Amino acid sequence: MKFYRTLHPRPVVIIGSGKVKNNEINFMACSWITPIAEDIPALGFACDKEHFTHKLIQKYKEFSVNITEDIDLIWKVGTTSGENVNKVEVFDIKIKPGKVLNVPLIENALANLECKVIKEIEVGEVMFYIGEVKHWEASDFDEYGYKEFWRLPLHKGGKAFTFSSKKLYFPK
Ligand SMILES: Cc1cc2nc3c(=O)[nH]c(=O)nc-3n(C[C@H](O)[C@H](O)[C@H](O)COP(=O)(O)O)c2cc1C
Repeated sequence: MKFYRTLHPRPVVIIGSGKVKNNEINFMACSWITPIAEDIPALGFACDKEHFTHKLIQKYKEFSVNITEDIDLIWKVGTTSGENVNKVEVFDIKIKPGKVLNVPLIENALANLECKVIKEIEVGEVMFYIGEVKHWEASDFDEYGYKEFWRLPLHKGGKAFTFSSKKLYFPK
């Protein structure tokens, strides 16, 4: 049994790394991601230091966060490495450059966030990257977030995913 299973299911995103101008682009799946602060809009995610994503973030110190309901794409980019595979070509990923940073974004994602690395914390096999959100866009969204929230996959761990099924608002 793994301790971290107690913290799943959790949202799963696709991290974009590299530089669009240099045609150096990669994507990986990530479920160990969290918002961190609001005054400085910041989020953090755990990236195994063996991943190609880690190499690209070390090089450019920027990354993107892409939220999509495309679970097949999540699985594909989460089970192959950019070290050996050009994921954009092989999986035919439609990309666009960031508006503020030169990070790759996934076109038609529900949300895209462009982040600049402001802190890196090394813990065991992982680098925890904290990024300041320099720009973000989301569609089908209101003050409570995604309207069609139940379509977003949650990662239960390993090969298992789940979906949330109902919402509840507390009266004021
Ligand atoms: C659903 C899912 C969630 C994942 N979450 C993480 C994560 O939070 N951190 C991480 O380092 N790897 C995570 N991975 C593994 C990477 O996505 C995977 O090893 C990928 O092949 C790395 O790609 P890269 O070498 O091109 O960077 C996850 C994989 C899947 C399928």
